[in-house]
Amino acid sequence: MIKTLISNIDELNIDKEEIKKHADLLAKGKTVIFPTETVYGLGANALDEEAVKKIYEAKGRPSDNPLIVHIYNENEINSLATDISEQAKKLMDEFWPGPLTMIFKKKDIVPQRTSGGLDTVAIRMPSHPIAREIIRQSGVPIAAPSANISGRPSPTKGEHVCEEMNGRVSGIIVGGDCDFGLESTVIDMTSEKPMILRPGSITKEQIEVLIGEVLIDPSIEGKADIKKAKAPGMKYTHYSPNGDVYIVSGDEENVINKINSLIEKQEANNLKCGVICKNKNIDKYKGQVIGLGNNLEEVGSNLFNSLIEMDKKNIDVIYSEAFSNTGVGRAIMNRLMKSAGYKVIEV
Ligand code: TXA
Ligand code: MG
Repeated sequence: MIKTLISNIDELNIDKEEIKKHADLLAKGKTVIFPTETVYGLGANALDEEAVKKIYEAKGRPSDNPLIVHIYNENEINSLATDISEQAKKLMDEFWPGPLTMIFKKKDIVPQRTSGGLDTVAIRMPSHPIAREIIRQSGVPIAAPSANISGRPSPTKGEHVCEEMNGRVSGIIVGGDCDFGLESTVIDMTSEKPMILRPGSITKEQIEVLIGEVLIDPSIEGKADIKKAKAPGMKYTHYSPNGDVYIVSGDEENVINKINSLIEKQEANNLKCGVICKNKNIDKYKGQVIGLGNNLEEVGSNLFNSLIEMDKKNIDVIYSEAFSNTGVGRAIMNRLMKSAGYKVIEV
């Protein structure tokens, strides 16, 4: 067990002195969890191999899975990466700070442990004021994966982070709920045509308006063997609550009837069932129901949280409605499919 310094910080009225305690921990090679606009991140000095090793230990993460390096200002990119294209600069101008991660050729200063042994490095400039302040004060680029134990849903609420990670890291900054609730869009800028390796709240369509056609890693859509995924993190079991997740897809009325009849059968076997759905359908289901929201943005921001809540209620089987696979929906369905282990019931 590590002694964990836990601080509550109001993102609208930031206590810089309190953040300094955590920035000092980072500067000394320790791990600190902090909120970002996507999910909570588990940070350490990206340039310090020993510090980065502690991230993998705290998460129980496979060491070939590379980390995203978080920076405070755009110029820092020049010390970490080379071959920054004009297209990449356009994306930075538009989307940084914000939930977009770009992959470049790395410079030697970035340790192999940070890049998972690859000769590329993933870089993002977050917009969350607490994330920005702690990176600024630490004075170093910060490697930060999502702050969950490897395989679990990414945490978007401070209380969930504390429950899971207290004693595993040196610091935790509790700073409210994350806005987007899904991790950043990851795009590989090293190939001739940039390729999206992980969909997020910045969509393919938004990117294409600026730089023309981009590709999508076929494994994201479940069309290719998942083991071939280009972002190593996409091939592992992921986002899994303790309960068994099924996606039920088809005409809405049929979906509702199917889920309710499945729940009846499961309950007859003494299994506890949960449903995650659009808010408008909350009253139509049996079992423990969690509404994810009224539109795709809300669904994205509540998805991981709902899976964690289902675990707290000791739910054995979770049924989810399917969502549209366009815009942000692509990121939602990507995460949902992974948490369901690609189990889809078509009705
Ligand atoms: O929103 C986010 O990106 C959050 C917050 C904390 O910033 N971070 C996050 O990190 O989601 P993580 O480690 O959970 O996911 C990073 C993803 C993984 O799928 C990893 O394989 C991929 O990015 N990745 C990182 N570096 C890469 C590289 N050089 N080449 C290909 N994929 C890379
Ligand atoms: Mg993650």
